[in-house]
Amino acid sequence: MDAQIVNFQKYYDEFTSFTSDIDDGVPRGILKSEAFFVRALIGDIKPMQLIESGRAQGQSTLLLAKSLPHLRIISFERDYDHVDSKIALDRLNSLNNVCCLFGDSKKILPNIALEGDVVVIDGPKDMDALWLLKKISEKTRISCAFIHDAHRGSLLRMWLDRFRKNLLYSDKSDFLARYCHLDRCKSDTEIKFWSNANNYPMQKVYSGTFSFLQAKDLKFSILDSYRIFYFKMFAKYTRSLKKRLGLKYKTNHPCG
Ligand SMILES: C[S@@+](CC[C@H](N)C(=O)[O-])C[C@H]1O[C@@H](n2cnc3c(N)ncnc32)[C@H](O)[C@@H]1O
Repeated sequence: MDAQIVNFQKYYDEFTSFTSDIDDGVPRGILKSEAFFVRALIGDIKPMQLIESGRAQGQSTLLLAKSLPHLRIISFERDYDHVDSKIALDRLNSLNNVCCLFGDSKKILPNIALEGDVVVIDGPKDMDALWLLKKISEKTRISCAFIHDAHRGSLLRMWLDRFRKNLLYSDKSDFLARYCHLDRCKSDTEIKFWSNANNYPMQKVYSGTFSFLQAKDLKFSILDSYRIFYFKMFAKYTRSLKKRLGLKYKTNHPCG
């Protein structure tokens, strides 16, 4: 088993007790197992602050803020007017380690991230998230980053599998076998299925999935920039072509 995953167990009791009052019956936002994945990996890094991009209703913000009470969390959301924004502010109001801000992360994050920060991106998505990370890394040396929705079948995952080998993902069989039971929104049948590490690899996708990029993975060469740009353009072209042909744009996202 992956040594990093073996190490996760030391954070388990604290995580479950700190997040026990968070409702995850309805799958809105990241899963508890995914938040645990982030929490356990940050545990050994001990950064000063975490910057989140993409808050929506604040499920990720809430889970991370509660499970890392000594860490300052600065959360960005682009859509001020969206109904989710008010829901998030109401849910996060009482937490004094969270600062909720509004604005476009693509413009703001490269200018405000500090050396040693942890960055968690759950919007913008896919190759745009990786592009944002590249822009941040050009300005400062963050300690690590997590990009959500790096599920198998996504363009982002294809890029990472090809150009950043051996990254850790929250859909790794060892991790799911041990920790997917944290997700109460999943049915008993699903939990039983995913708890068996031999059921991987397969066609099914468990969740949005976090990818974990360490400092060494965040050094982007000029060739990397071209590759990301090329993938971004490919995604844009495919989307607009499907739209023009009147086809429904369908991703392989687990939530459809
Ligand atoms: C999937 S939702 C985030 C869910 C949230 N992390 C959770 O677990 O509850 C994605 C969010 O990212 C926001 N977003 C997309 N692009 C963004 C950008 N450039 N800057 C800030 N927020 C952005 C969207 O408005 C949306 O609310």
